[in-house]
Amino acid sequence: MDKKIGFIGAGNMSSTIIGGLIKNFKGMNNLIYVTNRSKEKAERLCNEVNINFCNSNVDLAKTCDVIFLGIKPDMYGVVLKEIAPYVTDDKLIISLAAGVTTNNVEGYFKRPMKIIRIMPNIAVTVGEGMIALTANKNVAEEEIDLATNLLSSIGKVDKIEEYMIDAVTTISGCSPAFIALFVEALADGSVLQGMPRDKAYIYAAQTLIGTGKMMLEKEIHPGALKDIVSSPGGVTIEGVYALEKRGFRSILMEAVEACERKIKLLNSK
Ligand SMILES: NC(=O)c1ccc[n+]([C@@H]2O[C@H](COP(=O)([O-])OP(=O)(O)OC[C@H]3O[C@@H](n4cnc5c(N)ncnc54)[C@H](OP(=O)(O)O)[C@@H]3O)[C@@H](O)[C@H]2O)c1
Repeated sequence: MDKKIGFIGAGNMSSTIIGGLIKNFKGMNNLIYVTNRSKEKAERLCNEVNINFCNSNVDLAKTCDVIFLGIKPDMYGVVLKEIAPYVTDDKLIISLAAGVTTNNVEGYFKRPMKIIRIMPNIAVTVGEGMIALTANKNVAEEEIDLATNLLSSIGKVDKIEEYMIDAVTTISGCSPAFIALFVEALADGSVLQGMPRDKAYIYAAQTLIGTGKMMLEKEIHPGALKDIVSSPGGVTIEGVYALEKRGFRSILMEAVEACERKIKLLNSK
């Protein structure tokens, strides 16, 4: 690996990706460059993890082969107009912003450019993120492999068609909030039965992790897993019945529908 990796913006998401890269690729810190609007923030990060400080977005754009846009969507216009004249078309731009399409990004360059768009979720902070990745037609397979390899250091990467990005935003971006509600409620139920709260959270969250791993690693269908745990006339099926009586599944489906509605509304503005 000899590519120079740049981050414009030294905020939460850039710091998380940088942390994953350094942890997973030996010597990677020498290849990482960072710039930020407030220079002290970038300098602080550089000192903390021993990476290279860049004095300006333009310097970074000239220096790096891969450029992560770790800035908020409202800064895209300013930053991309600033760097566009200096970014050669062999460079790979990786955009993180919700609601900004690969076409939007390429539009600032006014010429064909290699653009990858990713949608990471909050679990990247513990290296267990779900990261959707989509690329425009100028990006070669080996560049997608490069981005996938880099991002695998913070979670599972899945290549999708760009039209799926709104659905992805809900199922992996928003759903940690739904899942947190689920864990909290499950723990509340156990507290109601007399279990200490701190233990209830641990049991509920660990059970969530284990259940997810069974589905992913053993490829057990969720319905089959429910069937395995629910013995005939047993305890679990009583709970499943109670959930179904209150429309557990349709409530979740409605939550997904509500998020998608809101995303479409925001995209149309
Ligand atoms: N956080 C998440 O969970 C998450 C999930 C999915 C996608 N994303 C996307 O990731 C991107 C970054 O989000 P974030 O949470 O990391 O935001 P953040 O913590 O607010 O970081 C944004 C950084 O951009 C810097 N910045 C602003 N204008 C700049 C400029 N002109 N030149 C250089 N740097 C500039 C800011 O510097 P200052 O310190 O000077 O303000 C700040 O450090 C966003 O597009 C967001 O939509 C985030």
